[in-house]
Amino acid sequence: MCGIVGYIGHRDAYPIIIKGLKRLEYRGYDSAGITLFNAASVVVKTKGKVADLEQIVTPQAKSGKTLGLGHTRWATHGIPSDLNSHPHLSNSGKIAIVHNGIIENYASIKKILTDNGYHFKSDTDTEVLVNLIEYIKTSQKATIGQAVQIALTQVVGAYAIAVVDTDRPGEVVVAKLGSPLAVGIGKDEYFIASDASPFIEYTNRTIYLDDNEMAVISRKKGFKMYSITSDKVLTPKVQEIQLSLETIEKSGFDYFMLKEIHEQPSAITDTFRGRLHVDTQNINISGIEQNKAVFENAQRITIVACGTSWHAGLVAEYLFEDAARIPVEVEYASEFRYRNPVINKGDVVIAISQSGETADTLAAIKLAKEKGAFVFGICNVVGSSIARASDAGAYTHAGPEIGVASTKAFTTQLTVIIMMGLRLGQLKGTIDKHDFDRVAKQLETLPKLIEGVLTCDKQIEKIAREYKDASNFLYLGRGYNFPAALEGALKLKEISYIHAEGYPAAEMKHGPIALIDENMPVVVIATNKGHYEKIVSNVQEIKSRNANIISIVTKGDESVKILSDHVIEIPEVTEALVPILASIPLQLLSYHIAIMRGCNVDQPRNLAKSVTVE
Ligand code: M6R
Repeated sequence: MCGIVGYIGHRDAYPIIIKGLKRLEYRGYDSAGITLFNAASVVVKTKGKVADLEQIVTPQAKSGKTLGLGHTRWATHGIPSDLNSHPHLSNSGKIAIVHNGIIENYASIKKILTDNGYHFKSDTDTEVLVNLIEYIKTSQKATIGQAVQIALTQVVGAYAIAVVDTDRPGEVVVAKLGSPLAVGIGKDEYFIASDASPFIEYTNRTIYLDDNEMAVISRKKGFKMYSITSDKVLTPKVQEIQLSLETIEKSGFDYFMLKEIHEQPSAITDTFRGRLHVDTQNINISGIEQNKAVFENAQRITIVACGTSWHAGLVAEYLFEDAARIPVEVEYASEFRYRNPVINKGDVVIAISQSGETADTLAAIKLAKEKGAFVFGICNVVGSSIARASDAGAYTHAGPEIGVASTKAFTTQLTVIIMMGLRLGQLKGTIDKHDFDRVAKQLETLPKLIEGVLTCDKQIEKIAREYKDASNFLYLGRGYNFPAALEGALKLKEISYIHAEGYPAAEMKHGPIALIDENMPVVVIATNKGHYEKIVSNVQEIKSRNANIISIVTKGDESVKILSDHVIEIPEVTEALVPILASIPLQLLSYHIAIMRGCNVDQPRNLAKSVTVE
């Protein structure tokens, strides 16, 4: 996690870095800092958000500096505090660093440095790295670029770093392993950032560093790229990125989360545009078309993901087994990578990730590839590490998701999954034409249906007012609605800090039913497909224990309605599509409850959008 920003050029660095840090705050927001540079350097840092940093940077410090680095932090080593904030300085005060990642062997390096007279002010691994660089620079009489390179061959872990040295005031050194790093190329100016959003108004020409790559960016010599491990000079690949300013701003909404909830109709349209051809009964996802034989011959599919993306994986399990008759397992990436999973050559592993940077998912991919699997990535962020590490894949095209809570990322992942399920069924000959046609047609109408569901916002706000002070919530669903229940519970707990559990409705009687009383609101997704009668019985069981029931039902439902305290209707669609529609009211419910409780829904405590630590 953490976001880094840097600038070297002819403009004032301060406003560029501050604005950039604000755009990267989704990556972490417990402290922030900046170093600005001309002949002399200044470092200002503080616990808190970028807005707090702005309050303490003096006009003097800001003015006339055309080189700078900034950082917004999500704490790994050391609590959020002024001292632990980045940038970190070397003991001489000459070298400053900003770092996103973790140096795993920092303790042993710290010991060596301490034995050589170095002292440390913070508890961070990053302060160890900057002093290792200084130690190498002075003991080996190296340039800052050489010292960074040698130091990085000695560390174990993950990093995206930017380093400046007052001995070379016209240079920034950057390097990457495991954490993302983009460099924007302008005219005689360079922008450094964890993603391209901080510099899109200045340039769309971007270089994404790959693992084990570093670059020395200098006013005199421009951008020079090297391999960290072999010293080789590399030729950078400049990409033209397509990101507009509008898409990363709030466009009149109070929060990114609300904006992103309302963007779902257009995001889903973007997901299936050019891929779903209802008239010709054709689904064209190039990553599948180019690897048809791999999918046709796969004995099984393993899905690896975390959090919300893992919930999308559960929907995929139900659908792929049903439509394509391929055995599917869904694994938390963090568990998969640390056990010794049976993965054979020819197995397909699907990695699902909005950010494409989640460290556990990335490590799971690496393990799967070592074992000979074919890896298919479903990612939102174009050019992300997971997208690049996969053998093939499909982008969700949801556009930037900035609110930490996943909304449109989830429903667009489901859209890709539904298209994949249909296509795999077609390839395996396990789905009949009629079913294919029905689901494909409904999928095409989803954006319109979601627009309709979004109009229940006011009704949901009222429900939220009634339950905003609850301490616990239970979310129940069966079949495809079970992952939707899990996702609803995750949404509530992460942004409102109310404890919430998702359960398969029938599991309730094996334990959780003991929790039910008049103080436990229960959200039930009880649409009319699948095991409708069974879920009606479950709702009856809850009612007879006096819980308040908020149900999501199919338009026109009678049986669940009479048992419920609040009813939210969604249009009738086939089972596999219900999680998409049901997610909309669940997202809005969490949003309103969290707002009423005074929570920052875009930046919930302790969380970050992109989890690049293990
Ligand atoms: O970027 P990813 O999809 O790999 O992220 C995985 C989880 O961290 C993420 O889905 C998280 O659970 C959501 N932000 C929750 O809303």
